[in-house]
Amino acid sequence: MLELRNMTKTLGDKLVLRNITLTLEKGEILAVIGPNGAGKSTFFKCTVGLLQPTSGEIYLNGKLVKKNSAEMKQRIGFLGHESFLYNNLSPLENLKFYGKLYKVKDLETKANELLKEVGLYLFRDIPIRSFSRGMMQRLAIARVLLPDPEILMLDEPHTGLDQEAVALLNTIILKKRESGTSILIISHDFEQVQALADRAAVLRKGKIVSAKRLGGEVSMAELKQWYEAEVKGT
Ligand SMILES: Nc1ncnc2c1ncn2[C@@H]1O[C@H](COP(=O)(O)OP(=O)(O)O)[C@@H](O)[C@H]1O
Ligand SMILES: [Mg+2]
Repeated sequence: MLELRNMTKTLGDKLVLRNITLTLEKGEILAVIGPNGAGKSTFFKCTVGLLQPTSGEIYLNGKLVKKNSAEMKQRIGFLGHESFLYNNLSPLENLKFYGKLYKVKDLETKANELLKEVGLYLFRDIPIRSFSRGMMQRLAIARVLLPDPEILMLDEPHTGLDQEAVALLNTIILKKRESGTSILIISHDFEQVQALADRAAVLRKGKIVSAKRLGGEVSMAELKQWYEAEVKGT
């Protein structure tokens, strides 16, 4: 379980995140949705440790997480707008590089299994520089899953993927939830939010203004209506 308490972030003289308090339960998929400029990526970066929040705390299973601790990096896997992959290395080499960094056990076996899972096994020894966006994203997902994180944070993971890659990503996300992983997805793709999320929270002007349980029981029309109302504010 991941808890954010009173997270704020100032960038320049702008208060981009305002007192965000949010809990991600074990085995839950939570979608954070909001318009452009609402602060979603800033929120993502502050939570995964790419940016230092101005104030606020993060608790992992009730324990305060120290900023930039190795523990946090091991236990929170994240996929942002950057893939952190090396173009001159093959998929297998990329995974082995990260696996060594994270001291992954049975690295060779695990890397090969993941490459099969994301459909890149046949391309495992080819430098990735010629790969398509979809193939890069598949490898980026494999990289994130390699150390077996208990929390997954994904910033707009479906962007730019073809249907097949979207389906694959969703299968992986749902499988991870089954095994108890907590997953936070930042998205503005309502179709994916409805397909995946147990709960959705609306971020508007740096604040979480509303949260709603979905769990497959809320129709697309209802979801959109709720979102529009919360974004406009009343
Ligand atoms: N380095 C920065 N300095 C000042 N303002 C920034 C900086 N980065 C982002 N912002 C502002 O913070 C707000 C939130 O940005 P962002 O987190 O990227 O939003 P989102 O991902 O929801 O589109 C925007 O208004 C943006 O202009
Ligand atoms: Mg963003």
